[in-house]
Amino acid sequence: MTDGKANLRIGDDDYPLDIVPAETGNTGIDISKLRADKGVVTFDPGFANTAGTRSSITHVDGEQGLLRHRGYRIEDVAENCTFLEVAYLLLFDDLPNQKQLEEWTQTVKHHTLLSEEMKRFFDAFPRSAHPMAILSSATNAISTFYEKYNDPRDPEAVSESARRLIAKMPTIAAWAYKKSAGQPYIYPRNDLSYVENFLHMMFALPVAEMKIDPVIARALNVLLILHADHGQNCSTATVRFVGSSQANLFASVAAGMNALWGPLHGGANQAVVEMLQRFHDDPDMDADRAIRRAKDRDDEFRLMGFGHRVYKNYDPRARILKKFADDVLTTVGLDDPLLAIANDLEKTALDDPFFQERKLYPNVDFYSGIIFRALGFPARMFTVLFAIGRLPGWIANWKEMIEDPATRIARPRQIYVGEVERQFVPITERP
Ligand code: ACO
Repeated sequence: MTDGKANLRIGDDDYPLDIVPAETGNTGIDISKLRADKGVVTFDPGFANTAGTRSSITHVDGEQGLLRHRGYRIEDVAENCTFLEVAYLLLFDDLPNQKQLEEWTQTVKHHTLLSEEMKRFFDAFPRSAHPMAILSSATNAISTFYEKYNDPRDPEAVSESARRLIAKMPTIAAWAYKKSAGQPYIYPRNDLSYVENFLHMMFALPVAEMKIDPVIARALNVLLILHADHGQNCSTATVRFVGSSQANLFASVAAGMNALWGPLHGGANQAVVEMLQRFHDDPDMDADRAIRRAKDRDDEFRLMGFGHRVYKNYDPRARILKKFADDVLTTVGLDDPLLAIANDLEKTALDDPFFQERKLYPNVDFYSGIIFRALGFPARMFTVLFAIGRLPGWIANWKEMIEDPATRIARPRQIYVGEVERQFVPITERP
C-alpha cells in the first residue's frame, strides 16, 4: 500500500483501490467498485476478512486482547458503572453525568410494563418452550403495540422504540422464565434498580416478600455490562443486516436474538455448562480425554467456550469472569464442582500445542454460565441473560447503521457453482 492506495493486479491490469483509514485497528481496502469496474467479486466465507461498516462504538483488538466501548476500557466500565450507564455510553457516545443518568434511568423505568394482552401471548407457549424462542417472538410481537414508532427514518420514533425495548426486555425475559416454571408472572417494580427489578420479576412469588441480595444484583450488573457490545459479531451483524432493509428496530433486534441463540455464538454459555455437567457425570471423562476429543478431526466435539473469531489472545471478558467466578461462588457460599472442572480444562487446553498454535483461549461464555448458575439462573436462561446484556449494543449499532449515509441494503454476492442451464423436463417425462 502506498500513497493512500492499494494495488490489485488482475491478469496484466493494475487496479488501484482506495484505503479506508481506521483510528486504530485494521485499515480497510475499498473494493466496493471492483465488480462494476473489473467484473470480479471478493470471496470471503463468514466475512472473516470483510468490514461491512465503519463504526465508532466498540473496538476489539483481538491480538492484544483489548475491548473498549467509545474508547473506555471494559475493565473500567465493568468495575465502576451500572448497566444502564453503559447502555447510555453505547447509545449516546459518552458516559452520562449524574443528571443525565438519573433522567435516563427514570425514562427507562417509565416503560417497564408490558401490555396486559401480552400475558395471553406468553400463555400460548408450551411450558417446555426454550425461553430464547419466547424472547425473540415477544420482542417481535410487542412492536405491534407501538406501530406508530416503527418508522426507522424518524429519530424520535427510534428513541421511543429503543427506550421501550431496554425497559421491557427484563420483563419479557422474566415472564418467559415464569411461563416455563409454571409460576405467576410478576409485575415490574419501578422503585428498584434495573437489575434488582429483573431479579425480582424472575424469582419473586406473590406469596411472600422477596429480599434482593445486593451481592447477586452487583454480580448480575457486571455480567450484563460484559455482554453489552462486541463489534460486528454474528447477532449484531444480523441486526444491522435486517435493519438495512429498513425493517423496524423491534424486528431487527428479534432477528439478532435468533442469531445469538446458536451454540457457536451466545448459546455457547448454556452449552458450556451442559458440557461441564456431562464431564462431571461421566467418570471416564477427564480434561485430557476432552482435549484429545477436541483435537480429533474425526470427532465433532468442540471445547465449548473456547476460541473466537477475533480474539487470538485471552478474551478480556473471560479474564474478568474467571476471577469473578471465584469471588461470586465464595460470596454466595457455593462450592460448584463445575468450576474446578472448568479450571482444569482451561489449564490443560492452554498447555496443549493444538490450542496454542491456533491461539484458542477461553471466551466470554466459558465462565459466565458457572456464575449465572451460582446466581440461581437455570441453564436455559443463560442465553436470555446474554441477550438482555447485548441489547444496548444491538440498538447502538442499528442506530449507527440507520444514521450512516453510506448504508445500503445488505446484499452480498455469491460465486455460482451450480448447473448453468438445463432443458426443462415435464413431470410425466422425468425418470
Ligand atoms: N474446540 C476445538 N477446536 C477449535 C475450537 C474449539 N472450541 N475453536 C476453534 N477450533 C479449531 C478449529 O477446528 C480450527 O482448526 P483447523 O485450523 O485445524 O481447522 C481452528 O481452531 C480455527 O477455528 P474456526 O472454526 O475456523 O474459527 P472461527 O473463527 O470460524 O470460529 C468459533 C470461531 C465459532 C467461536 C469457534 O472457535 C468455536 O466453535 N468455538 C466453540 C463455540 C463457542 O465457544 N462459541 C462462543 C464464541 S464467543 C461468542 O460468540 C459470544
